[in-house]
Order: sequence, then C-alpha cells, then structure tokens
Amino acid sequence: MRMPAPGLPMRWLNACLDLGRIMKTYRLRVALALAVIGSSACGGGGSPAGPSPSPSPSPSPSLEPTFSSIAAQIFSSGDANGRSACTNCHTNAGQANAGGLNLVTSAAHAELVNVSSVTNPGRVRVVPGDPDNSLLIWKLEGRPGTLGARMPFDGPPYLTDAQIQVIRQWIARGAPND
Ligand code: HEC
Repeated sequence: MRMPAPGLPMRWLNACLDLGRIMKTYRLRVALALAVIGSSACGGGGSPAGPSPSPSPSPSPSLEPTFSSIAAQIFSSGDANGRSACTNCHTNAGQANAGGLNLVTSAAHAELVNVSSVTNPGRVRVVPGDPDNSLLIWKLEGRPGTLGARMPFDGPPYLTDAQIQVIRQWIARGAPND
C-alpha cells in the first residue's frame, strides 16, 4: 500500500476512512453533509506538496473494456503514475468499505451495476449502456456538481483520460460481468 501523500498525515487518512464508515451507517442526509465536508477536509481537489512522479501517458497499456481487466488493472492495482489502488479503501477486509462501496473483484460488479449511490442520492453507480449517467464516471472525472471527492480520494494522480475512456467503453457495452 502506498504511503499517504505528504500533506495528508495518517490521522487525516484515518478520519477519511472513518467518514466512509459513518456514511455507510447513516446513509441519507448525514452522508450527504459528510461527503461535502469530506471533499474539502480530506484533500479532495487539493494538491499535496512535494514532487509527483512524472506522468506516464499510458500507465496501464493492456487495459481492456472488460470487467475483469478493469477490476484487475484499475480497482485492485495502482499504476505507473503513482496512483493507489481503489481497494486500499474500497474493501471490507479489516475496515468498512469507503463510501459503502466494495471494489474487491469478487464483489465489485454486484456493488456497481444498477446500484444506487450512497454519496449522491438519486444517482446510480453504473447505468448499463449509459456512461454519461453513471456516477462512477462522474467520480473519476471529478465532474462539477458531484458530491464528495474526485476519485481516487487520495489523488492526484487521478486516472488518465485513456483509462477513463476504457471504463466508459465497458459501460457503453452494457457493463457485462466479463
Ligand atoms: C484513499 C481512499 C480511497 C481511494 C484510494 C479511493 N476511494 Fe473512492 N471513496 C472513498 C471515500 C472515503 C468515499 C466516500 C466519500 C466521497 O465520496 O468523497 C468514496 C466514494 C466513492 C464512490 C461513490 C460511492 C457512492 O455510492 O456514492 C465511488 C464510485 C468511488 N469512491 C470509486 C472509487 C474508484 C473507482 C477508485 C479507484 C480509482 C477509488 N474510489 C479510490 C475513498 C477512496
């Protein structure tokens, strides 16, 4: 697991993880309020001090628009740009899933496809065939108006446009469990 970025001490990271745990328990208004606090207090959009690794144009060159490829190369792995794995936080191994979302491969498809968002009430995490209306894409792109932080929560680095494009293609294909 990657160490927290400089400027994001461990106690903040723990606070952020606690936030995810609280949000899982009190899903609606409290979650909404905490998501907004979380985005400012936990480094969402902030830039950590210190040098960042030089960006690689293609950090996961063999990524394919299939669920198994995305789960292995995005959800469960970091990349050559220094991005941490989603499953550092989105796992129930030893902690509550951040944002009520488990992205461990065996759970991730059922947790994403046609499942309502915890942080953005009224939104759906992955809408098969419709990447533009899938909250997963909003969180990865940091779309304005999305509640909570851009993902990965401890970014930058975030996913590259090319990586997000492959996830969009998988959703456009109907988000199959392939
Ligand atoms: C450092 C911890 C951390 C990492 C790494 C991380 N997340 Fe998150 N994630 C959170 C927390 C905490 C929340 C809830 C607060 C928020 O939305 O800002 C969240 C919320 C989300 C949500 C919203 C869930 C919902 O139902 O509303 C999605 C989708 C998401 N993350 C996807 C990802 C993906 C995909 C990655 C990897 C590319 C990732 N996250 C990496 C901590 C993390």
